Amino acid sequence: MNHLSKRDFFDKEARGWDDRYHQQDESEIRKLVDRFDVRPGDRVLDVGTGNGILLPHLVRRVQDKGRIIALDFSWKMILEAAGVAKAANMCFMNACAAHLPIKDQTIDCVTCLAAFAHVGRKVMALTEMSRVLKDDGRIYITHLMGKEELAEHHRQAGGPVRHDILPPDSEMTEMMEKAGLKDVKIVDRPDLYLASARK
Ligand SMILES: C[S@@+](CC[C@H](N)C(=O)[O-])C[C@H]1O[C@@H](n2cnc3c(N)ncnc32)[C@H](O)[C@@H]1O
Repeated sequence: MNHLSKRDFFDKEARGWDDRYHQQDESEIRKLVDRFDVRPGDRVLDVGTGNGILLPHLVRRVQDKGRIIALDFSWKMILEAAGVAKAANMCFMNACAAHLPIKDQTIDCVTCLAAFAHVGRKVMALTEMSRVLKDDGRIYITHLMGKEELAEHHRQAGGPVRHDILPPDSEMTEMMEKAGLKDVKIVDRPDLYLASARK
């Protein structure tokens, strides 16, 4: 497993990802999305969408006039997501968080669940997420466990994700501010990591 790149790792994990994740955490996801300021009509970008666990919740929030862009660098994850979450106002992109093929200032809200720890070029990814956000747009970077728990979880998972961690809060705040984001707030407790900000 160690020789695989992260993209290969997630390609391999794509099939059956929801078996081990959805049932266990569906109510947690619902509660999490209720914390996001997502409004009817919003254009939302979900970075590292995986098999699309957030998508039905986001569709419910943006309603018919909104739009969801589901993005992941694993082609197989995107295929899984596109197979499960279908709505007329949803589109799928196979791209890296550090190079978003999206125009400046076109997104109202960026979400990123259980993916940021895996992103290699974190500064670039935050800069890109900020670039595509409209002024006053919102960003939510989150994991369903705290920093310490996540580091241990990835250590046990092994392979190419074994060293994937979240930055210390001061570093994360600095990176987000340098990317042009403000009002950075970080929640870090055993059952939740949530870094939120506005542009
Ligand atoms: C642990 S999964 C989480 C997927 C989904 N958000 C969820 O909560 O079920 C992490 C996802 O992030 C994606 N990912 C990791 N690094 C990425 C990057 N640099 N750009 C885009 N996607 C990335 C992986 O392919 C994978 O689908």
